[in-house]
Amino acid sequence: MILVTGATGNIGRNVVTRLLNHGRPVRALTLDTAREAGLPDGVEVVTGDMCEPRVLAAALRDVRRVFLFPVFGVFDQVLSACVAAKVEQVVLLSSAVVTFPEPGWLGREQARLETAVRESGLGWAFVRPTYLMANDLNWAPRLAATGAVTGAYGDAALAPVDERDVAAVAAHLLTNRLTGCTFELTGPQALSQVERVRIIGEVTGRSARFDETSAGQAARELREWVPEPAVEQLLSILRSARDRPHRVLDTVRTLIGEPPHTYAQWVAHHRDRFLAPA
Ligand SMILES: NC(=O)c1ccc[n+]([C@@H]2O[C@H](COP(=O)([O-])OP(=O)(O)OC[C@H]3O[C@@H](n4cnc5c(N)ncnc54)[C@H](OP(=O)(O)O)[C@@H]3O)[C@@H](O)[C@H]2O)c1
Repeated sequence: MILVTGATGNIGRNVVTRLLNHGRPVRALTLDTAREAGLPDGVEVVTGDMCEPRVLAAALRDVRRVFLFPVFGVFDQVLSACVAAKVEQVVLLSSAVVTFPEPGWLGREQARLETAVRESGLGWAFVRPTYLMANDLNWAPRLAATGAVTGAYGDAALAPVDERDVAAVAAHLLTNRLTGCTFELTGPQALSQVERVRIIGEVTGRSARFDETSAGQAARELREWVPEPAVEQLLSILRSARDRPHRVLDTVRTLIGEPPHTYAQWVAHHRDRFLAPA
């Protein structure tokens, strides 16, 4: 049995689907029952908070492999529960920010989790996405309402990756029982915010514009969906990407033999979200 935590999230949901498509027995741990409905048939669901040892013990019964969503603050007890349950492999959802020159709060937290997993004695593998395309779903309501989004450093090029590709790599590591390895994941293109909004307009057939604003104004808007300690960090990542566009890695194709989704393919996959009435 493979346990997927964070199973109703952008990435976790796709890990569940991918593992089921590989014919694997999957158990999903979700926090919110309502959303549980969105999970495919054939997955065994455990509902509850990862922070609760009772919930965790039930979720880990007869489990040998775990996709580990990084819930900060309770992670050490999640790990000890995995050790107690004699789990053989954990695939941790980490982040490429641990490798950045300025890892900041997020990078330090994720690095701490990676160290804890390495020192746990469990078989481990880490997936480190750079920037998730799913972040741009936060633009959808504003684009639907006004046809425009604002932000700073519009020309800074990141290499966003589709949540389905992160999930495909995680599922590959779980089904092939790979351990002792770390994979940094990017999408197939380095794209600025201006270019991404243009592609959203092209794919949705709606007018879409990116309006440059000050870093202060951008920070105020980012606070709507970015944890406070990471707001300044995201702006500094964008600032440095203006001079040094993020590099594109071929990890997804190399590992799973499939080309990663382009940004236009990702927008098409979430077309309804971008066309949803304001
Ligand atoms: N955003 C980026 O650009 C980026 C870049 C690199 C790495 N990452 C990593 O990716 C993660 C985000 O992944 P995502 O987009 O798939 O996440 P997401 O969509 O926000 O989903 C979070 C999932 O975790 C579950 N969850 C949260 N707290 C829980 C708890 N206490 N007990 C049980 N389940 C809990 C949620 O359950 P409910 O749905 O039931 O609430 C949900 O399934 C980040 O945390 C970071 O580590 C992100």
